[in-house]
Amino acid sequence: MTNKKITIKDGQTNNEIDLPVLDSILGPDVVDIRSLEKNLGYLSHDPGFMATSSCESKITFIDGNEGKLWYRGYPIEELAENSSFVETAYLLLNDKLPNINELNNFSNDISKSMNVDSSVLNMIKVFDKNSHPMAIMTACLTYLSAKYHSDIDIQNKDYRYNSTINLIAAVPIMAAWILNFIHDNDFGQPNQELSLAENFINMSFPNISEEQKKLSSKAMDIIFLLHADHEQNASTSTVRLSGSSETSPYAAIAAGISTLWGPTHGGANEAVINMLEEIKNSDKDVEYYINMAKDKENPFRLMGFGHRIYKNYDPRAKIIQKIAHEYLKKLDESNPNKPLFDIAMKLEKYALEDDYFVSRKLYPNVDFYSGIVLKAIGVPQSMYTVIFALARTVGWVAHWNEMIEDKNFRIGRPRQLYTGKSKTSYIKIEDR
Ligand code: CMC
Repeated sequence: MTNKKITIKDGQTNNEIDLPVLDSILGPDVVDIRSLEKNLGYLSHDPGFMATSSCESKITFIDGNEGKLWYRGYPIEELAENSSFVETAYLLLNDKLPNINELNNFSNDISKSMNVDSSVLNMIKVFDKNSHPMAIMTACLTYLSAKYHSDIDIQNKDYRYNSTINLIAAVPIMAAWILNFIHDNDFGQPNQELSLAENFINMSFPNISEEQKKLSSKAMDIIFLLHADHEQNASTSTVRLSGSSETSPYAAIAAGISTLWGPTHGGANEAVINMLEEIKNSDKDVEYYINMAKDKENPFRLMGFGHRIYKNYDPRAKIIQKIAHEYLKKLDESNPNKPLFDIAMKLEKYALEDDYFVSRKLYPNVDFYSGIVLKAIGVPQSMYTVIFALARTVGWVAHWNEMIEDKNFRIGRPRQLYTGKSKTSYIKIEDR
């Protein structure tokens, strides 16, 4: 704590107050405006929360200008190179890398919780096969919130640990069940000897070769790891706000999944494949679409290019680009998706060389490559956001735990700038 402060003077009354400045370890320091209303009678106004820090957090650090993404201080590149999804989950939850015993215990606890109540399957079967998998996943979480309703005790560390493990283990298993349901395949059961990524591949694609399973599980594990957390985005903030009412963690995660479902949050990699399909099926070439994206009169944008936060490059895109290239190299010419991937590689080449994209720093983002890798693995498009949700469940529960342990924990309650009518008297209907 330093003595830094910002002085605010009210131009109308000449009243002045000092607002403390809170030190951030990295990134901008933060002005604590909590005394603003009490002392000057004003609120702050920040629609979209673009200039508002909503909480203290030690979990993830992002520097969009420098292309940095760190989990608990560890650069994402080092974790993707050396760690696994499960070890990274431990790190996000515990603020340290586990030793061998800690990792084994954590993995065993997750394995034991893979035994998801099979009555969830009856609930999944009630849905229409054309239902969106994200709607089914939200219902699965609601189902679990009903099942684990009676013992909610969020201040109890054991309760929090058990629900955390349950959620991390159950969501990937339910994701595989949903995938099999929409494909009319057998549901399958998890194998407790396998990791979460291996189980997802094994349950979703039981008939592919062992070599293919190994390759797909490795790619899937890295996709899970890269999506595990991303600071205070819309779905994480939703989980925090929902959880702040002390609701069931399963219900709070269901709220997060609903938020992630939106196309401006989790749905971009699905949009990438839709765009590639459109280009493949049209009689126009890649150059035509590139020119359309550059044309300011045309609203068309290249899906999977550019990023709101990463203005230099998206560090996750660099990692998954390598996997996408390796994966595509191994595909043989007869693969039905080969023409689609050839279009993707042409687009990538253009974007990396064309002055329009280079000067605006519009690099291919994580969704561009994750869409391609998921397509190559064989995951149906409507499941892409579910994959994102199962990975992000780790980040959501890490934030939920951090929030409850925070000394400032209280229910979230944003305020507003009221612009409606002032007091108006009721007029009887016959007099209106
Ligand atoms: N294709 C063509 N031009 C683009 C694109 C694109 N994909 N993205 C940005 N531009 C242009 C834009 O027209 C503007 O040009 P000018 O300066 O001449 O007016 C310039 O680049 C800056 O764009 P912006 O709209 O200010 O950038 P933004 O930060 O508001 O938007 C974005 C970021 C991700 C919404 C946008 O790049 C976009 O729509 N991309 C395609 C959709 C997509 O891939 N979304 C996934 C993002 S990653 C999500 C995640 O991390 O989970």
